[in-house]
Amino acid sequence: MAMVDIINKKRLGKVLSKEELKEAFVGYFQGEIPDYQMSSLLMAICLRGMTDQETLDLTDIFIQSGEILDLSMVNGVTVDKHSTGGVGDKTTLIVASIVASLGLKVPKMSGRGLGHTGGTIDKLESIPGFRVDLTQEEFIQQLNTVGVAIISQTAHLAPLDKKVYALRDVTGTVESIPLIASSIMSKKIASGASKIVLDIKVGKGALLKTQEEALEISRLMKKIGHYYQREVDTMITYMDIPLGTSIGNALEILEVMRILSNEENNYLVALSKALAAKMVQLGLNISIHDASLRVEESLKSGRAYDKFMEMIKAQGGDISGLRVSSRTQDILSTKSGHVVDMDAYRFGKLSLDLGGGRRTKEDHIDPKVGIVLKKKIGDDVQVGDVLCTLYLQDDAPFIQEDLTSYYTFTENQETKNTDLEEVV
Ligand code: URA
Repeated sequence: MAMVDIINKKRLGKVLSKEELKEAFVGYFQGEIPDYQMSSLLMAICLRGMTDQETLDLTDIFIQSGEILDLSMVNGVTVDKHSTGGVGDKTTLIVASIVASLGLKVPKMSGRGLGHTGGTIDKLESIPGFRVDLTQEEFIQQLNTVGVAIISQTAHLAPLDKKVYALRDVTGTVESIPLIASSIMSKKIASGASKIVLDIKVGKGALLKTQEEALEISRLMKKIGHYYQREVDTMITYMDIPLGTSIGNALEILEVMRILSNEENNYLVALSKALAAKMVQLGLNISIHDASLRVEESLKSGRAYDKFMEMIKAQGGDISGLRVSSRTQDILSTKSGHVVDMDAYRFGKLSLDLGGGRRTKEDHIDPKVGIVLKKKIGDDVQVGDVLCTLYLQDDAPFIQEDLTSYYTFTENQETKNTDLEEVV
């Protein structure tokens, strides 16, 4: 069928066969279908949706465009984790260390940050010497010896998704439940782990804005996982405010070290423990109660911290070389009140402006910059209190903007509920 007929069929809300999807998407991969026709089809999919069968077919087409990592040489149960991403999201580093310290294998391929969200790989690269590009043999060997390896997503896994995602990013076609589900699941299936926990983020700082959308994508991703004989579990969690207290690459590594040393107790810690417990429950086939006890024990005993350090060393990192900027600026509040909201998106953008992120793939990141939040939701603030501390580039001017507007205050003590809420 001609591409224009495939586009028209979807525009009219009809169901595309796998052959038709292949003609369009494989044709695009091979350069036979131009960007403008693929954009049009993607928009029709966004507006008309896809059936579960179409979503499964598209996932398969993405997977077949590249390699499927063979983890059969890894001794033990492999458990992967994926978060739909956010501001200050360093859960991967925390949960991977905990879960690997409990005997499971965590083969993690992560991405770099783009836009206002940070990437796990950029955070790890703030550690001098840390290698994110292990060969497949090194990756598998480290999984067998250390139990965890975190590397950059290779270009060989689901390369068609990569090409389509880049187009979606600039054509307003990211926010489609079947497209997001097939994009994420194709990479997870191709990465080879037998069990997968998905952290589905909902809220202002996330791709999915409502709980209904999150529930729908959770159902769909579990169905895709089931089709490929992978066990998938999901958690739906908030992404309205930055996670934890630090935003910025080296600062976030320091925060992970504090959390693994039991020096913090906040939503990020609770979220990380809950995700780790889900992975342990799935991986060891035990109750969530027992899994949670093991997670607590791993943290308290320092085993999770030791595992994090072991991974850094195995991948060539020298933690003693980690540096944050010495040029800091305290931001003082120009208002008083009770903090009820914070704008995760604006904080993410600020970190980007300070040099901590990239606007294009080629941009250079300064790992030493970022933001440490001193006031968060639930805190009382007086005029003149420090809201946050900025870590600036060595020669950067101080920020003149009044960052008080990033916070919402009320006079009463009503605090928005950001407690960890598991709904699936
Ligand atoms: N992350 C992905 O990898 N793909 C999407 O479509 C959305 C988020």
